[in-house]
Amino acid sequence: MKAAVCYENNQPVRVEDVEQEGPRQGEVRVRLVASGVCHSDLSVVTGVLPLQLPCVLGHEGAGIVEEVGEGVRSVTKGDPVVLSWITPCGTCYFCRIGRVSLCDLGAQLNTTCLMPDGTSRLHKDGQDLHSFSALGTMAETAVVPENAAVKVPEDTPLDKAALVGCAVMTGVGAVFNTAKVTPGSRVAVFGAGGVGLNAIQGSVIAGAEQVIAVDVNTPKLELAKGFGATHTVDASKDRPVKAIKAITGGLGADYTFEAIGRKESIEQAHAACRKGGTCVVIGMAAYGELVSLNAFLLPLLEKRLVGCWYGSANPHLDIPRLIALYRAGKLKLDELVTRTYKLDEVNQAFDDMTRGVNARGVILF
Ligand SMILES: NC(=O)c1ccc[n+]([C@@H]2O[C@H](COP(=O)([O-])OP(=O)(O)OC[C@H]3O[C@@H](n4cnc5c(N)ncnc54)[C@H](O)[C@@H]3O)[C@@H](O)[C@H]2O)c1
Ligand SMILES: [Zn+2]
Ligand SMILES: [Zn+2]
Repeated sequence: MKAAVCYENNQPVRVEDVEQEGPRQGEVRVRLVASGVCHSDLSVVTGVLPLQLPCVLGHEGAGIVEEVGEGVRSVTKGDPVVLSWITPCGTCYFCRIGRVSLCDLGAQLNTTCLMPDGTSRLHKDGQDLHSFSALGTMAETAVVPENAAVKVPEDTPLDKAALVGCAVMTGVGAVFNTAKVTPGSRVAVFGAGGVGLNAIQGSVIAGAEQVIAVDVNTPKLELAKGFGATHTVDASKDRPVKAIKAITGGLGADYTFEAIGRKESIEQAHAACRKGGTCVVIGMAAYGELVSLNAFLLPLLEKRLVGCWYGSANPHLDIPRLIALYRAGKLKLDELVTRTYKLDEVNQAFDDMTRGVNARGVILF
C-alpha cells in the first residue's frame, strides 16, 4: 500500500510502499477516495507541529470501509465514511459533559499518532510508522479506530466530503459551536485559507451582517468574496485592526477568528474585537510561542479569548450535519477544491500551500 511518509523535518515527503496490518478488534480499514492537504500536515513537515517521525501524513480524508475488525458494529464493508481526527471515546469526562473535541482518547491519539492500544498498524523495513491522528489519510488505505469513521449518506461525493474531516468542521464549527455567532453580527476572519474560508461561509450561514476577510494574498481575498465576505482587508498593505475598526463604525468586530497561527495575527484579532466581544484562536503557532496582551485592559474591555479545537465539534453529530447543509445547497464544498493531486505529487501540494495557491488542494486516489 502506498503512503506519504514524513521521515525528517524540512525534507521532501517520501511516497513509498509500506506494510499495513489488517484491522484488530474495534478497528476498520478504509480505502481512501480523497485526502485534503491541511496546513497542519505542512506543519508536521516543517516541525511547527512536533510529531514523532516517521509518520504517515494526512488527517482530512474520506473513503469506503473495506474491512472491519472484531466487534465493530457502527459500520460495515462498503459504507462511505468521513474520517474524524478526534476519535471520541464516549466515556471520559469531556465526552460526558459534551465537550467531545476535548476527549482524552482524541488527545492521546493526536499526541502518540498510534492506535488506542499504543501500537502501530504500519511498518516499513521492520520499523513502526506513526500515522497522523491515528488516521494517516495520505495513503491508499488507512486502518483507523471504529469511532474515527463517521458513516455518511451513500450518494455523498467523497472527493469533496473529505474536507469536512478537518477544514470545514474546524472553520464552520468555530462559528457555530465555539463562538456561537448570532444573526446581525459583525465578524472578522484573519486568514482566508482552507480553514478561514470556512469560518467566513459559516458566518454567512449564521446570518452575520458583515464578514471581513483579512489576508496578505490577493487571490485569497478574491476567493473570500466568493464565500460571502462582505469586506476584505489586505494586511500586506493596510493595518488590519485600523481597517476593521473603520468598517465596523469604530467599534471593532463582535467576533474575530484567527485562522493563520501567528502571534502577531492573534494579537491583532484580539485588538480588532469590540468591547465584550469574542476572539477565537484556531490557527496553530509553534509550541512555546507566546502572545502579548495588555493586562490593564483585559478587565476593562471584557473580551472573551477562546481557543477552538476541531470546531468544538461532536464529530458524529456535526459531520453528518455539515454534509446535510452541503446537500441543501447552503454549504460550499465544490468551490473549496481548487486543485487535485496524485499521491506522488504531495510535495508539489505542500509547495503550492506555501505559495498560497489553493483554497484547498486535495489528493485523489
Ligand atoms: N484548531 C484546529 O483544530 C485546527 C484545525 C485545522 C487547522 N488548524 C490550523 O489553522 C491554520 C490555518 O490552516 P489552513 O489549512 O487554513 O492554512 P492555509 O495555508 O490554507 O491558510 C492560511 C492563510 O493565512 C494567510 N496568511 C499568512 N500570513 C498572513 C498574515 N500575516 N496576515 C493575514 N493572513 C496571512 C495565508 O495567505 C493563507 O491564506 C494553521 O495554523 C493550521 O495548523 C487548526
Ligand atoms: Zn487539519
Ligand atoms: Zn472521551
